[in-house]
Amino acid sequence: MKRKWWHDQIAYQIYPKSFYDSNGDGIGDVRGIIEKLDYLKDLGIGLLWLSPIYPSPLADEGYDISDYYGVDPRFGSLEDVGELIAEAKKRGIRIVMDLVVNHCSDEHEWFRKACEDPDGPYGSYFYIRHFQSDGAPPTNWRSFFGGSAWEALPGHPDRCYLHAFHKKQPDLNWENAALREEIFKNINWWLDKGLGGFRVDAIIYIKKPDVFHDYPADRSDGMSSFANILKDAHGIGDFLGEMQARAFAPHDAFSVGEVLGEKPGALAEFIGENGYFSSIFDFEEDNFGFSEKGWYDRTPCLPEDYKQCVFRAQKKAEGIGFFSNIIENHDEARGVSRYIPADELCADAKKALAAAYFFMRGIPFIYQGQELGMENLVFHSTDEFSDCSSFDQYETALAAGCTEEEALDSVSRYSRDNARTPMQWTGGHAAGFTTGTPWYRVNPNYTEVNAEKELKDPDSVLHFYRKMAALRRDQRYKDTFVYGEFIPWMPEQKNLLAYIRSGSPSVLVAVNMQKEAQTVACPETAATILLSNRPAEGPVSGTIRLAGWQAVVVEL
Ligand code: GLC
Ligand code: CA
Repeated sequence: MKRKWWHDQIAYQIYPKSFYDSNGDGIGDVRGIIEKLDYLKDLGIGLLWLSPIYPSPLADEGYDISDYYGVDPRFGSLEDVGELIAEAKKRGIRIVMDLVVNHCSDEHEWFRKACEDPDGPYGSYFYIRHFQSDGAPPTNWRSFFGGSAWEALPGHPDRCYLHAFHKKQPDLNWENAALREEIFKNINWWLDKGLGGFRVDAIIYIKKPDVFHDYPADRSDGMSSFANILKDAHGIGDFLGEMQARAFAPHDAFSVGEVLGEKPGALAEFIGENGYFSSIFDFEEDNFGFSEKGWYDRTPCLPEDYKQCVFRAQKKAEGIGFFSNIIENHDEARGVSRYIPADELCADAKKALAAAYFFMRGIPFIYQGQELGMENLVFHSTDEFSDCSSFDQYETALAAGCTEEEALDSVSRYSRDNARTPMQWTGGHAAGFTTGTPWYRVNPNYTEVNAEKELKDPDSVLHFYRKMAALRRDQRYKDTFVYGEFIPWMPEQKNLLAYIRSGSPSVLVAVNMQKEAQTVACPETAATILLSNRPAEGPVSGTIRLAGWQAVVVEL
């Protein structure tokens, strides 16, 4: 395998609105990120992905972009971004921006021009169709945020446009070469500024079926999930290959795709040696228990399920390329609240889950606050929702016959709001996120879970993350963790998540994902514990006894 500069990186995701507010207006900003660069350097990261900071009406929190060449004044300016790139570089960190090109905002000038003249050049930047003669939309596709994926075109009541997500996010028509040129031009413009690369949003949906038709309804609303169109969408590789060749490759840029549902057997096309992307996210465990009916119908992911998922994903990528490994992101509940049973949630369990995913093959991503052990919110009423999908999923649950309490519970479990609360820097006002009023509520556990406190405590979750990063970057183990084979160890043993990363030296990672103790056989007679979340160091042999939620990394 040809070595690439991003193979050995540890990445960190920032949700700018909630990371750090430098000017007291309650909204996180680019200058706030610059102020915290030393914190990130000390954590040990080399790639820093920012969720969108472009001008946006924020219908979907910045994933609805109205100008691809700017920075929203709420977040700062282009000059601030230039400074961020330069300051990060001094600390060995490369900035990765979000590329959101399945759709733009309905306030983007392309869409405005398309509304002015749907038959003109900008009309074909979008998917514009006529309503059927009875007024029904062209197809029964449901958007991901609820309701029809078709919306009346402003100024043209007989026509409508397609939006896979929010109605303020019209889908861009990638079949149009002029549109593709615009996108490649924009990517190159940013990369020329010294970016490390892009995280590529919702990219699997840029290819639509040749023929638009209905799919069987999967809810009582008579509609069908938008994801069903993927079955009939063929040939996305032409677009992605072109983007790779025209934009990413010339800059040797890092690219990580949000790809949910590539065709079976297609992984090599995406992340193989000459793949479209450097990496794509592993969503195997994230998807576990998914139900087309909605969040209320999801099956929780128990530790043993979690293990099966990660093993499956690791196997799938074997000999092909690198997944990017996560336990959470801005679209998910907090990983510790999701994969650790609620009555077993504690600092040891948080560290154990961290060790489980961090040393697998692939690029580990840490989502802001994950390194502190930040947890889900508890919702008491719909007034506490912020994200559009929280509202939609609540209504969906009620429509399916859930009580208000059950509907709230399902939102508490899976809402994207969970991950979007302000970063917990201190135990003081607004968790130290802002001197003003935060745009969204702070998780009430901030007095316990915060960076200031954890920096002072050598046993904190934060310090454990720092130690993990230091170990992964240690010259002696780096090649093992980056390129070593992933070999499941004692996979039949329930709630034991263990694997060997082979190399010289080889390393065993063993995680006890339950509160009861259990033992794991040590494959070598002479071995040394390199890292543990419980007091345990030095040589081991024979069997290793793991206390409840203990994780060890052992040099073999
Ligand atoms: C991706 C983003 C998500 C956004 C959606 C539409 O899934 O991660 O936050 O809502 O795409 O852009
Ligand atoms: Ca601010």
